Amino acid sequence: MLAAYVERFDDADPRAALRVDQRPEPDPPDGWTVVAVKGASLNHHDVWTARGLGVVRPDQLPMILGCDAAGIDDAGRDVVVHAVITDPAWLGPELLAPSLALLSDGPPGTFAERVAVPRRNLVPKPASLSFEQAACLPTAWLTAYRMLFTKAAVQPGETVLVQGASGGLSTALIMLGRAAGVRMWVTGREESKRAYALERGADAAFEPGARLPERVDAVMDSVGAATWEHSLKVLRKGATLVVAGATGGFSAPTNIVRMFQNDLRIVGSTMGTIDELRNLVDFCESAAIHPPVSEVLPLERAAEALATMATGAVRGKIVLRP
Ligand SMILES: NC(=O)c1ccc[n+]([C@@H]2O[C@H](COP(=O)([O-])OP(=O)(O)OC[C@H]3O[C@@H](n4cnc5c(N)ncnc54)[C@H](OP(=O)(O)O)[C@@H]3O)[C@@H](O)[C@H]2O)c1
Repeated sequence: MLAAYVERFDDADPRAALRVDQRPEPDPPDGWTVVAVKGASLNHHDVWTARGLGVVRPDQLPMILGCDAAGIDDAGRDVVVHAVITDPAWLGPELLAPSLALLSDGPPGTFAERVAVPRRNLVPKPASLSFEQAACLPTAWLTAYRMLFTKAAVQPGETVLVQGASGGLSTALIMLGRAAGVRMWVTGREESKRAYALERGADAAFEPGARLPERVDAVMDSVGAATWEHSLKVLRKGATLVVAGATGGFSAPTNIVRMFQNDLRIVGSTMGTIDELRNLVDFCESAAIHPPVSEVLPLERAAEALATMATGAVRGKIVLRP
């Protein structure tokens, strides 16, 4: 089958790391099934892997990229694939499973005509979402859902700042928060990106590091070092900072005094559970939310899509179609 895979890491040029060619058909173990991929969305995760900065080791190459897919299962049902793979024998909290791996971090990923997944990872695709829109949900949108509603437990009427305006996770945060009655503010590095966020439903868009009209109830930060100080500064007393990424740098100083004097909560967040994915799907259906897809490209053009994401030019989500 045709697949897009990393043959050798390339930190300087992730595009050069990717090859699109024939790979062996999936060989599903017991309890797994094969999904015919109809849409596979890109995430920054794919850029980290191609650069050699993810969790995939050189001895695991070649590795098919892609965490996210929507497609058709072996019984002919339209499905969304939960990308989090755990050992069914693990009885603790799903996301704390010692064996946890995302598709493309061990199990081959979704940038392929077919992908093997555990049967229990399948969620019915709602009719209101196309395959391309549904393919946006399993990583960026699920992470946004958990950050807002599980980790920060935001309430209607509260104010949330999202660091980053135009990427997949940022867009999902803006749209989900807005649909839940939360006042959503963003920072974006370019005027056109701030305008994009406002079109997606943000209530206000600011330049990075800007002084805000008032302090906020929560900050959603996936940028890391470049926004960390600002994120801490804009929190009201007792507020929550949820961190899920470090696209703009891995380490930054923290004002410890501000943390305890203002009674702040800083919490990490990774992906989401399958129940959260089901809730997200239902929320998208009931609130008529459609993840914005800026480009749908054939699988053959996966390297081009990866380069767009690596340079920060992406708006919303890019989806590959085998
Ligand atoms: N913890 C998890 O489970 C999880 C899940 C999904 C994603 N993530 C992480 O979250 C991050 C975003 O993922 P994504 O797929 O949404 O990526 P993406 O589509 O490439 O978006 C990148 C975002 O970073 C923002 N950004 C702001 N300042 C930046 C800077 N100095 N350098 C680089 N980017 C900057 C961009 O904002 P502008 O609009 O200003 O360009 C944009 O919104 C990644 O680090 C990813 O690994 C983590």
